[in-house]
Parts: sequence; C-alpha cells; structure tokens
Amino acid sequence: GRGAAMVTAVAHRLAAQRQCIDATLAPFLLPLGILREVMDKMRAELEYGLKRETQANATVKMLPTYVCGTPDGTEKGKFLALDLGGTNFRVLLVKIKSGRRRSVQMYNKIFAIPLEIMQGTGEELFDHIVTCISDFLDYMGIKGARLPLGFTFSFPCKQTSLDAGILLNWTKGFKATDCEGEDVVYLLREGIKRREEFDLDVVAVVNDTVGTMMTCAYEDPNCEIGLIVGTGSNACYMEEMRNIEMVDGEQGRMCVNTEWGAFGDNGCLDDIRTIYDKAVDDFSLNAGKQRYEKMISGMYLGEIVRNILIDFTKRGFLFRGQISETLKTRHIFETKFLSQIESDRLALLQVRTILQQLGLNSTCDDSIIVKTVCGAVSRRAAQLCGAGMAAIVDKIRENRGLEHLEITVGVDGTLYKLHPHFSRIMHQTVKDLAPNCDVTFLLSEDGSGKGAALITAVGCRLREAEQN
Ligand code: GLC
Repeated sequence: GRGAAMVTAVAHRLAAQRQCIDATLAPFLLPLGILREVMDKMRAELEYGLKRETQANATVKMLPTYVCGTPDGTEKGKFLALDLGGTNFRVLLVKIKSGRRRSVQMYNKIFAIPLEIMQGTGEELFDHIVTCISDFLDYMGIKGARLPLGFTFSFPCKQTSLDAGILLNWTKGFKATDCEGEDVVYLLREGIKRREEFDLDVVAVVNDTVGTMMTCAYEDPNCEIGLIVGTGSNACYMEEMRNIEMVDGEQGRMCVNTEWGAFGDNGCLDDIRTIYDKAVDDFSLNAGKQRYEKMISGMYLGEIVRNILIDFTKRGFLFRGQISETLKTRHIFETKFLSQIESDRLALLQVRTILQQLGLNSTCDDSIIVKTVCGAVSRRAAQLCGAGMAAIVDKIRENRGLEHLEITVGVDGTLYKLHPHFSRIMHQTVKDLAPNCDVTFLLSEDGSGKGAALITAVGCRLREAEQN
C-alpha cells in the first residue's frame, strides 16, 4: 500500500544521504600508503631545514635551541618560569633539589590573556605579562628576590644563544604588533624596566616542546624527543651537532625545535588537504601558514568539524537543513567538547545533551552524524601526527647507525591528554610506519614550566662555570 511505498522512499533517501556523507568523509581516511608518503615528505623537510643551502627556504625550520643535554639530577635552586602560548598563561615558582633527595616543587598561578591583548600591541602584551609576574611575586611574598627566570615562549624563535630568541612569526591565536623580528627576551626585559618595580634575571627562552622533553628526561634519560598536541602542534628532538649546519661545532648533540606545524606550507600536503581544511586556513589569523598544524591541533580540529557540519546542513543532511547562529560561531567546538562527543562511554542521548549545551538542537540521527564527523577528523589528525613522529624516530635511528632504536617521547597538550582515541591511534601509526623503533610515550606533568626551570638551572650552572 501507500504506507509501505513511503517507508521505502524514506529508506532510499536515507541510504542516498548516507552515501553522500561517506563520500564526503572519504578523503579523511588515509591508508597506510599515503601516511608513508607523508612520513617520507616530513623526513625530506627535516633535512632541508638542517642544511645550510636549503635552510633559508625550508618550511620546517629546524631551529637550534642551545640546549645540549638533558638534565642529570645535579640541577638545583629556585627559579621563576613563565609559560606563554598554550591554553593558559602561567607564572610559576619552581624549587629544584638535587642529590639523593632530588625533587621539584612548584607553585603556579594562571592568568587570563584577553583577546584584545593577544592581538593588540607588543608593548601592551609585555606590560600585561609583567603585571602578572608582579601579581604573582606579591602573592608568593617574594618581590625582593632577584630570581633567575626561564621563559617558555611557544612560538618559532630564531635563537643565537640560550637567552636570545627572535620571534619569526606568531602562530595560533596571537597577533600582537611590533614583536615579529624582535628578541622576545629583550621585549620582556624592557617590560620589566618600564615597571621599575622589581628586577629579574632572564636566563633562558624555551619552546614548550623543549620544556616538555626536559621534564620527562628528568625522570627517564631515554627521553630525547618532545611533542605537543594542544592548541598547536610541534616536536623537538636531540640532533647530532654535525648535522646542524647552521651551528658551529661537530661534537655532541643539540635539541632542535622542528616547528613542524609549518610542514606543508610549500604545498606538499595539498593533495590530502580537503576543501574544509582550506576553508579553516582561509579564515585563520595566518592564512597559508601552519598547514600541518591546522590538520592536527586542538585550535583547528573543531573548526574543520564545524565547516563539515555547515556543509552537511546546507545539503539537508543535518539539523533539518537549518544553519543556526551557533553553528556559524567560530571556535565553538573546543577540544573538551570533541573529546566528550567521541567518548565511548557516552550514549547517543548524552551526545545530544552536549550539542544542546552548545545550542544545537539535534535529533538522534543528527548526533550519529556529528559523532561520525568528529571521529573522521580526529583519526586523521592522530595518523598525520604519527606519520610525523615516525619520520623523527627513524631519523634518530639512522643518525645513530642502529638497526633498532629504543626511545622515549615526552608529550603534553590538551588534545593528547583529553581525547579518548587520539593517543592510541597516534601510537599505532608510529608502530606501523617505524617498525624498527620501540617508542615509549611519557606524559609530562606540567612540562613547560618545570622544563623551563630545569633549563634555567643548567644555564646558570654553565654561566658560573664560564665566570670561574
Ligand atoms: C605552534 C608554535 C610552536 C609550539 C606549538 C605548540 O606550532 O609555533 O612553537 O611549540 O604551537 O604549542
């Protein structure tokens, strides 16, 4: 009868819709062969960044950090650390004890950095930072002490020593004027002088990847790689001095900040970038830049998801074809929401509740589709990140002329920590692509702050040795 015909028609429509959805998400499924190509391309870019002839035009910049060893347990003292560039801005006091009762004690305070300061003038940004330091010193009751300070500054910096770093370009959500091309340690010292209230001894500027590596190396000497998958994504590792052509000296190793987020900025990933990746890039603060990071990290995954959902809604597959104001709002899908939506313990009804909280009224079918989209986007992110890591571990293995390498990666970042599947998929990809490497991933607790203090301790020790 007519009822049966209608049911069949609806079933057909749903099947056709399902096909369209699968076809749209197909480019997010990367087979191992493609991932291997990504790994090989990353490997090539790592080499370009290290070599004198190709360095100037390299997209993956391979920046020397002047950190030439991991901690050995003799580090000690009281240090201040700043942590700028992740989810939160923090000021920390770190007390390190050496010897048999070695330990690290930390006190920290989180401060907000309002959007108008992130994207205002450089002077306002550094004045704000110094105000926060002042507040922290009052809070801890240590305004009088002239403490050595380590500055974790999670952006690409060209370093010529441990305590000088020229900001090459802002990434992620920052865009303060008059900072690019400047030494951020100088900008910080000037900010401290302007306030005329306290004195500090800025000893080191540190990328968050390096801080994370150092923190984990304090527990596990095998840790010679640092990885961040948070707001942004980046990795550092211990490279042989003889391979770092931009720095004199052949002996030993130095930590290199790869700045791998910029991988693909020469177009080498364009064959796997989707129209959604391009849309996210076009509307970002730094269009055309950090293309790999924009496929991997927390600041952008939610935006990729949102762009796909808008497209599906326009095509009538979702939300009854109605694009709400919420869906038009940028950055609604924060990492914590994506992580909740993909949690296996969550029933579909709860997915609907989360979407409801975001202001999206969904049916049960809607919530299935949303969860599928999130899964496709985050799986690809984890696999791409794994392909990059596989390139690094295999390079280290070859550097050392080993059949087999055992190595530890220190990891931090909200996406890595909060997401229910990201870490597992990433680890599996590294296994598949670098079968001769046995890679342990060690979560860093409070990596950037502690690491900055450890590096500052080493910096102070070296300086004293030089003076004697
Ligand atoms: C961005 C920055 C990089 C940092 C990473 C993780 O990629 O350019 O320096 O390490 O984010 O915070």
